[in-house]
Amino acid sequence: MSEKIRVLISEEEVCEKIRQVAAEISRDYEGKEVHLLCVLKGGVFFTCELAKRLTVPVSLDFMSVSSYGDETKSSGVVRIVKDLDQPLADKDVIIVEDIVDSGRTLSYLIDILKKRNPRSIRLCTLLDKPDRRVKMVHVDYCCFRIPDEFVVGYGLDYAQKYRNLPYIGVVEFEEDL
Ligand code: IMP
Ligand code: MG
Repeated sequence: MSEKIRVLISEEEVCEKIRQVAAEISRDYEGKEVHLLCVLKGGVFFTCELAKRLTVPVSLDFMSVSSYGDETKSSGVVRIVKDLDQPLADKDVIIVEDIVDSGRTLSYLIDILKKRNPRSIRLCTLLDKPDRRVKMVHVDYCCFRIPDEFVVGYGLDYAQKYRNLPYIGVVEFEEDL
């Protein structure tokens, strides 16, 4: 089997949309500072591109979580692999994610983070697959709603590969000849 990547959203489309979402966030947070929480590893490319385009003051922190469950289905119980460095108390927090799929990981994560008393907490995701939702999660900012297909690029991986692609693509498998 060999893999081929079909472009779903081009680099230009991704850049333009991130610019629009950054402008929206900058308007909504005018006069405030935003504390961006990047969920590693998938959220890292999106976080950088978004942060560069915000016109309000920005601080950044990173966390890494892993979901208990098998490879295809997250259980919704999240293990914090790398916790945040800074407290969230009195901060206006935006969680920056690559994709919201079943919603299990994020609904659990948001519950944990709310207990740390941020002033506000919102969710910004590059991609949303609403057809797959099992747990209700309120998405405040979303760049693209996509159909139920497995995608890679812009931080998203398949077996740790393709995170570096500058566009969003669908993995297609072909029988070797
Ligand atoms: P869930 O919302 O708890 O089901 O899990 C979301 C996580 O699953 C994301 O943060 C990704 O790491 C991973 N994921 C879901 N869909 C895809 C996809 O299409 N490509 C790559 N990773 C995905
Ligand atoms: Mg993720």
